[in-house]
Amino acid sequence: MEYLEISLEILEKFKRPLKFDVYIKRTETSYTKIFKSDDVIDRERVAQYRKKGVNSFYVEENDYSIYCLYVEKIGDVLAGSIGKFTPEESSAFIKELVNFTMHEMILKNNIDERTIKSAGNVVSSCIDTLNTNPKGFVKILSLMSNQPYIVKHSIAVSLFSVMLAKKYGIESESTISHIGLGGFLHDVGVGQLTFDPEDVETLTPEQRKEVWRHPELGRQQLDQIKGIRTEVLQIVTQHHEQPNGRGYPNGLLGLNIFLPARIVAVADTFSSLIVKRSFRDSFSCEKALSIMAEETGKFDTKILAVLNGMFIK
Ligand SMILES: [Fe+2]
Ligand SMILES: [Fe+2]
Repeated sequence: MEYLEISLEILEKFKRPLKFDVYIKRTETSYTKIFKSDDVIDRERVAQYRKKGVNSFYVEENDYSIYCLYVEKIGDVLAGSIGKFTPEESSAFIKELVNFTMHEMILKNNIDERTIKSAGNVVSSCIDTLNTNPKGFVKILSLMSNQPYIVKHSIAVSLFSVMLAKKYGIESESTISHIGLGGFLHDVGVGQLTFDPEDVETLTPEQRKEVWRHPELGRQQLDQIKGIRTEVLQIVTQHHEQPNGRGYPNGLLGLNIFLPARIVAVADTFSSLIVKRSFRDSFSCEKALSIMAEETGKFDTKILAVLNGMFIK
């Protein structure tokens, strides 16, 4: 039996009977049940576990979808009212919503109205968090540290895109949320590749050709969803275009690239550089910015200057 990690913060907050058993990890392979289905989480007991250094809680893989459904329901209730929660509760909530959404979209390749709605909830919660606390992204990203690269990357690109868009001077709330959602979904097409690019340091020419297809594959998948905005589709399609015309899939030049896509492109590269990959260590923010500054013509210079202003202090 596989066990998947969950957050107890959310279950503690909403005192409803559990619909699944909760475990802690004893050894690499053994787990002990600490709450059973129909129990209500006992906060004191959880506090005792935390005192002993037990901070990870699990459900059986079979129960994960029930747990997700619960988180998803709370997501519907809480989206847009994150300011009413402590920063810890908000971040825990975002973490679980991100896990659920990415688990469905990337690992199960299940992209439908339901998962896109959850992705929208993730983004609006992130925007609310950033509105309340501009440094809130640090906490959200630190909670993602144990997640697969694609999960960390998607949320980081969404957060940085929103922050960049605001600093750039975009005020329209709807544009900001399209940028956040486009950032979150930008690499959704990666889930359709025949290999995981994260496992490969140097791509073969065939693999490179396949990778070049991910923006279009993502767009095609999202295009099936009722109500998905063209702005979001354009971001997904154009996030690897470069102002110098050397990007893909269409080699668009300069201002022909949609502004939100130029913003997401900058956030995308920055996010991937500052995160540890399977084949290299992470770069510091300063080093990442200097690498990007050397790549003349690859990024919108004005957006890059905004990014520098945000992180060179
Ligand atoms: Fe990409
Ligand atoms: Fe990316």
